[in-house]
Amino acid sequence: MPLDGKVAMVSGAARGIGAAIAERLVAEGAHVVVLDREVAAGRATARRLGRADFREVDVSRADEVRAAVEATVAELGGVQILVNNAGIANNTTFLEVSEEEFERVVAVNLTSQFLLGQAVARHMVERGEGGAIVNISSVTAHGGVATQAAYASAKGGVESLTRVMAVALAHEGIRVNAVAPGSTATPMVADFFAQKPELRTMMLSRIPLRRLAEPDELASVVAFLASEDASYLTGQVLIVDGGRRALNYTVPVDDEAGER
Ligand code: NAI
Repeated sequence: MPLDGKVAMVSGAARGIGAAIAERLVAEGAHVVVLDREVAAGRATARRLGRADFREVDVSRADEVRAAVEATVAELGGVQILVNNAGIANNTTFLEVSEEEFERVVAVNLTSQFLLGQAVARHMVERGEGGAIVNISSVTAHGGVATQAAYASAKGGVESLTRVMAVALAHEGIRVNAVAPGSTATPMVADFFAQKPELRTMMLSRIPLRRLAEPDELASVVAFLASEDASYLTGQVLIVDGGRRALNYTVPVDDEAGER
């Protein structure tokens, strides 16, 4: 299998897209370390996957991130793949969002990727065997949403950080890419739809493939980027959004159309 013998750390893998990524990496041969702040869900996911361990981490805390990387290296002998997936969204209008909320959302979505990326990359450089890092961004980095100043800023930062890491680590044989998912059927999106049911119809009308992504459809792209099949790909952002960003503004959208 393509990822046989590799150790992969996946943040936010207790549920949602992260759990799907972890499952896919295990299916391709990797041993996965599930990093999450949710202990019960994280343990359950690791148990379900089999070739996986769980480690409780708040990815916005440098001390916890460092300890998790050190423990993984000590117990499993190394880390060859990192997927920076943990994230939280915010939904407060620009004029209302507080400094505290802004900083928390940036810390969990962006600073965490710097902390974990740096800690794992330092280990990879020391080992001298290269590696692959995949950072999870969002289509929200590519178009304004009035209620997501913090989230969009953080995800825009994720894409810039990805390019910097790719350039800084290329000579070490470490590839760094990002995946920007469109709306994906996970608990995070279910929460949004519960607050605003009309959002679902509106979103579908602007997605040419006329459905949300399934977490598996992101996981397969992440697994590709982490594998040797992507050996000449670094510093890129793959937008996986069912065609949403390809839609020109002159194309009429049908707000009444349902899911395909
Ligand atoms: P989710 O809310 O279903 O899962 C996120 C996971 O991250 C949870 O297990 C949560 O406990 C964990 N987490 C959150 N904060 C953490 C922290 N401080 N430390 C450790 N773990 C933490 O979210 P979903 O939808 O699976 O999103 C995964 C990634 O994909 C996020 O980065 C998100 O921004 C991104 N994304 C999701 C989209 C969607 O439509 N679901 C669209 C675009 C991007």
